Amino acid sequence: MTQFLPATSTAISQAADLLRDGQAVAFPTETVYGLGADALRPEAVLRIFAAKGRPADNPLIVHVAEVADVEPLVARIDARARLLMERFWPGPLTLVLPKAARVPNQVTAGLDTVAVRLPAHPVALALIREASRPIAAPSANRSGRPSPTTARHVYEDMNGRIPMILDGGACAVGVESTVLDLTEEMAVVLRPGGVTLEALRELLGEVRVDAAALAPLKKEIAPRSPGMKYKHYAPDATVVIVSGTEEGRAVLASRLYDEAKVAGERAVILAPAEQRCAYGPRVFRALGRSGKPGEAAAQLFAALRELDAQGFQRIIAEAVEAEGIGLAVMNRLCRAANFAIEHAD
Ligand code: TXA
Ligand code: MG
Repeated sequence: MTQFLPATSTAISQAADLLRDGQAVAFPTETVYGLGADALRPEAVLRIFAAKGRPADNPLIVHVAEVADVEPLVARIDARARLLMERFWPGPLTLVLPKAARVPNQVTAGLDTVAVRLPAHPVALALIREASRPIAAPSANRSGRPSPTTARHVYEDMNGRIPMILDGGACAVGVESTVLDLTEEMAVVLRPGGVTLEALRELLGEVRVDAAALAPLKKEIAPRSPGMKYKHYAPDATVVIVSGTEEGRAVLASRLYDEAKVAGERAVILAPAEQRCAYGPRVFRALGRSGKPGEAAAQLFAALRELDAQGFQRIIAEAVEAEGIGLAVMNRLCRAANFAIEHAD
C-alpha cells in the first residue's frame, strides 16, 4: 500500500523517517516529481531502480538542500561550478562533477562523475533537510513513461511499489533540470531543461550542447549522459512532430491527421491554443499559447499522459521553437516521437 499524503510538515517528517530507514519516497520538485532515497546507501538506492524498473546503467541525480552539502560528494568544485551554483541554485540545474569515493557506484552507474542539484521547491528542501542526508532521485515515473508533474501521475505509476507519495501540487517548470557536464574545459549541456542554454551562455560564454539533445544517437557513439540512450518520455500513442511555418504546420498536420483517420486510428493534434481554428473539426488538444514555451513545458508531460488515458493512438504535435525553455520541450517531444519529424515546406 502506498500512502498518498498532502505535504504537511507532519507528512514531510514521516517521509524523512522513511528515507532515514532506507526506503524510497516520492516528493515534488519545481521540475517534476522525484523518487528519492538515501544517496549514500546502496541498498536504499537499489529500491529506486526496482520501483522504476530502471536500467542499472542509468545514473541518478543527488539532491542536496545546501551548497555546502555538495562538498563531501565531489572531488572538487572549481570556480565555474561555484558561479553556476550561486546564480542558478536553488533551481533546475544539475551539475556533473568528478565524484568523491563515498558516493556509491549504484548512484553513478559506475561513472567517475556524480550529478548534483539543489532544487527550488520548499517541500523537497524541507524533506532533504529533515532527512539530513543527500537524496538520490530520478523522476518518479516508471522507466520509459512521461515524467510525473503531479502526485496523481506518480500514483498511477508507483502505487503499491513505494511506501509514500508526498503531494505538493503541480510542478511549476514541468520539464526536468538542465544537466550540465563540467568535467572538461568546455561546459556541455547533456540534457536541456529548466535553466536555458541562453542563460548558461550569458554566464559562462561558450557552452556546447550534446549531439543527443535534438538528434537520434548514433549507435557507435556512447552517450555522455546514459539516460539519452533510452526510449524516454514516451506515451503509448505514436507521436509525430510537424515543423515548418505556422501555416505549413497546420496544412501538414491536418493531412497526417486525415490519413490516420482513414487508417482507422484515433488521432489528435497537439499544438498552441491559437492554432485550434486552423484544424476545423479535427480533435485538438492545446499545449500552451503560441510563443510561450514555458506553458508548453509546464503542460507537456501531463498532456501526453492525458491523451494516452483518452485512448488516442496517434499524437500529431506541432514543433516548438527550440529557444529558451523551448529547447527542452523539443528535446522531450523528439524523444517521445522517437525523432519522427515531418517538415512542411
Ligand atoms: O529535474 C530533474 O532533474 C529531476 C528531479 C526529480 O530532480 N530528476 C531527473 O532525474 O530528471 P532522471 O534520473 O530522470 O534524469 C537524470 C539524468 C539522466 O539522463 C542521467 O543519465 C543523467 O541525468 N545523469 C545522472 N548522473 C550523470 C552523470 N554522472 N553523468 C552524466 N549524466 C548523468
Ligand atoms: Mg527521468
